Amino acid sequence: MITVSAKDTPQPQFHSYLLGAIGPRPIAFASTIDKDGRPNLAPFSFFNVFSSNPPIAIFSPARSGRDGTNKHTLENVKEVPEVVLNIVNYDMVQQMSLASSPYAKGVDEFEKAGFTKLASQQVKPFRVAEAPVTMECKVNQVIELGQGGGAGNLVVCEVLLIHVKEEVLDEHGKIDQHKIDLVARMGGNWYCRAHGDALFEIAKPITTLGIGVDAIPAEIKNSKVLSGNNLGQLGNIEHLPTQEEINAYKASNNKHFTTKDELHQYAKTLLDVNKVGEAWKVLLGN
Ligand SMILES: Cc1cc2nc3c(=O)[nH]c(=O)nc-3n(C[C@H](O)[C@H](O)[C@H](O)COP(=O)(O)O)c2cc1C
Repeated sequence: MITVSAKDTPQPQFHSYLLGAIGPRPIAFASTIDKDGRPNLAPFSFFNVFSSNPPIAIFSPARSGRDGTNKHTLENVKEVPEVVLNIVNYDMVQQMSLASSPYAKGVDEFEKAGFTKLASQQVKPFRVAEAPVTMECKVNQVIELGQGGGAGNLVVCEVLLIHVKEEVLDEHGKIDQHKIDLVARMGGNWYCRAHGDALFEIAKPITTLGIGVDAIPAEIKNSKVLSGNNLGQLGNIEHLPTQEEINAYKASNNKHFTTKDELHQYAKTLLDVNKVGEAWKVLLGN
């Protein structure tokens, strides 16, 4: 393991460790206007949602690591405290990247990157017509985190309206994670596309209280075959199967294992298809 100290490491190098490790990061494609009404559009991956009541998203235009200058977006939200957070999907990613070029103040990145302006309902900055989701926000606060190159500025945005294209909705009117095809930023020039095999579900352990990995019998917990993910699945069960349930399972599934590893391997195949209850019955019944 290498250990990198913030104090002893040049800022660009420390920056690259932070961005290489903290990701994939969602992208706010922020549309703002200056006090003369000139539009500006730029992407920011220092971005996330922090509250739904009130609905708050925060993004951070940082001072340039090269010359310490501020981003036009930051200047704009100080002049006109409104922003549209446009969500970026795969179909827009190349144009979004183009819009991040350091064009001079006043240059309209909607035009440079070839995006279509849509009027907003409650704020002055435009929405990006191509984006699957757009959020009209007022800026409640700007928090400066420092004065040097790389210093962030938290733009605290209160979401007033969310517009969602019908084509990314499922039959219940919710955003379908397969249809929205989100992209995210990673370290260096890397991006990530959230689609296909990259997507998977884990049941939320909010309404249930799992027994915990610490309650798994030692010979299962110390298995050479079962992974950390498998132990997480096993620990998420609320109750271990009863002896009756184990016996009933054994009676209808005549499995025989010659070694512990073989038993654990079989349990792993069940866990891989999310049959957690069955995996427990096999593990405890053999
Ligand atoms: C995907 C992506 C994410 C970015 N994230 C950030 C960020 O979080 N903070 C930042 O200061 N710059 C970020 N940048 C760089 C800005 O988009 C770039 O400096 C842009 O020119 C700023 O535009 P503006 O001066 O018009 O505000 C990002 C660039 C890309 C392509």
